[in-house]
Amino acid sequence: MCGITGYIGKNKNAINVVINGLESLEYRGYDSAGIAYVLNNKVNIIKEQGKIVNLKNKIDFNIQSNLAIGHTRWATHGEPNQINSHPHSQGKFTIVHNGIIENYLELKQELIENGYKFKSSTDTEVACTYMDFIYSKNNNILKTLNEVSKVFRGSYAFGIICEDDLDNLYALRKTSPLIIANGNNENYIASDVPAILRYTNKYILLDDMEIAKINSDKVVVYNQNLEIVKKEILEFEGSFESSMKCGYEHFMLKEIHEEPSVFKNTINAYFDGDFKNIPDLTKYNNIHIVACGSAYHAGLVGKYLIEKYANIPVYVEVASEYRYKHNFYDKDTLVILVSQSGETADTLASLRMVKEKNIDTLSIVNVVGSSIARESKYVIYTKAGCEIAVATTKAYLAQISVFALITMYLSNNKSKEILEEINNIPNLLEEIINIDYKNISSEIYQNQNIFFIGRGIDYSICMEGSLKLKEISYINSVAYQAGELKHGTISLIEKNTPVVALCTDDSLLEKTISNIKEVKARGAKVIFITTSDIEGDFYDFKVNVPKVNELLQPIITIVPLQLIAYDVAKLNGCDIDKPRNLAKSVTVE
Ligand code: F6R
Repeated sequence: MCGITGYIGKNKNAINVVINGLESLEYRGYDSAGIAYVLNNKVNIIKEQGKIVNLKNKIDFNIQSNLAIGHTRWATHGEPNQINSHPHSQGKFTIVHNGIIENYLELKQELIENGYKFKSSTDTEVACTYMDFIYSKNNNILKTLNEVSKVFRGSYAFGIICEDDLDNLYALRKTSPLIIANGNNENYIASDVPAILRYTNKYILLDDMEIAKINSDKVVVYNQNLEIVKKEILEFEGSFESSMKCGYEHFMLKEIHEEPSVFKNTINAYFDGDFKNIPDLTKYNNIHIVACGSAYHAGLVGKYLIEKYANIPVYVEVASEYRYKHNFYDKDTLVILVSQSGETADTLASLRMVKEKNIDTLSIVNVVGSSIARESKYVIYTKAGCEIAVATTKAYLAQISVFALITMYLSNNKSKEILEEINNIPNLLEEIINIDYKNISSEIYQNQNIFFIGRGIDYSICMEGSLKLKEISYINSVAYQAGELKHGTISLIEKNTPVVALCTDDSLLEKTISNIKEVKARGAKVIFITTSDIEGDFYDFKVNVPKVNELLQPIITIVPLQLIAYDVAKLNGCDIDKPRNLAKSVTVE
């Protein structure tokens, strides 16, 4: 949700570094982009509405600068036009910002009363102006940043340039992520690792309310008391290539093709015939799973498996609801937070709320060192690597793999049979990824409404398949429990309405087929995705999915749905990796 980056150094052109960095962060938002660079002791700003390519067209790359900051925006306050784009400047300060300053309206009033004028309707311009206001009184940049950090409510990661100190780049954060990477005679700041991976994989994480003063030779980090703090250097496991398309037309397709190795890496980290690196979860007798979007759908799969095989009641809720409702806990409740980014605002807020009640927390997170991972009592990292496409595929697959593992662990299932099945999953994934689904996609891509139906665990997969399709192709799609359709929704089925029907559970096959026949009788075009070899005239297309142990079945079944969504979006000419209105990491409520 907005990406920021910055560079100060003697080796490279700051403008190139910042633009490259922004391109790697574009998945965080693409409403507008902008850059501020220093040339001849003056700060220059260029910004443009829309994607980074629009900004690039306005930049003269022959200009050499050694200090720049940049921003790619997912609009929160103010429409996504040029004026509201970052960087913002006021007086001596120029800043880029990821997050939301919640009390910006009251601060704006105070600043107007002190004679300041505003060009935009953003909270960021207010933050920048407030920095200038405090600085005009104390003439000390560190003290200014320290003071504003105590006044600003909400979330922020700032990259800051002050005209009075063009030898340094400053950064300040609370809740929104910010990393600092060291080079030789050069340093970088960024919202996320992909922005720095082409230069280095070593970085430090700025903690809440910390301030960094960065020049080309060194980085000094201060805590809230303005004491210098020593920071741990972290190393990112993936390579630069992991953040590139590597010949694939889209990141989404590349990431689907990475699923066999993502599965293998995730399982191998926690199971080698015996469980390892899994915290002791045996004492909990009820579990809450809290997450948003696809991570919530992964939680639904988790609920189904844990309840059925480990016999523990599981309650699943979307984080934006959970954090504001009355929940029931006891001393043996475990709350599991699921998040690819580890920064999703509602999931993070739910975690913090639960911790205040002294309830134990476990997070299932992909981004190492992210806020949710750091603040949970226990963490199990998914090993999906960098996920760039806004629509998640491989990270979701890693999340449901972790739920299979947790279920095995809780039900103490480390049988020879499950081990053999696990070892075979990567091959089966390869096979199913390489099937061509275009005969199906080309039949449905022009429809305005598509339905997904399934029972039991298949319904959870339907929800994810339906979300994948609608978010990248903009076709309205809805997932329904197969037996529930006739209680209202079936009135929407008409001639040629596509219905994707999932059935991987033999015990529910007959019931599901009856529901399929109900829609078929009303003219639906049925795409039957199943592990069964049953044939009949109740479907138009059939996809045979290999039958595996039920714990692992969702890992296979989701793949055709991801690929059909991809093909449908492609046939519709959609921007697959950057669907409209979306951003990958949702750091606002
Ligand atoms: C959909 C998608 C989103 C995320 C959701 C949670 O393809 O990616 O629904 O799953 O925004 O994000 P994380 O997992 O980062 O908490």
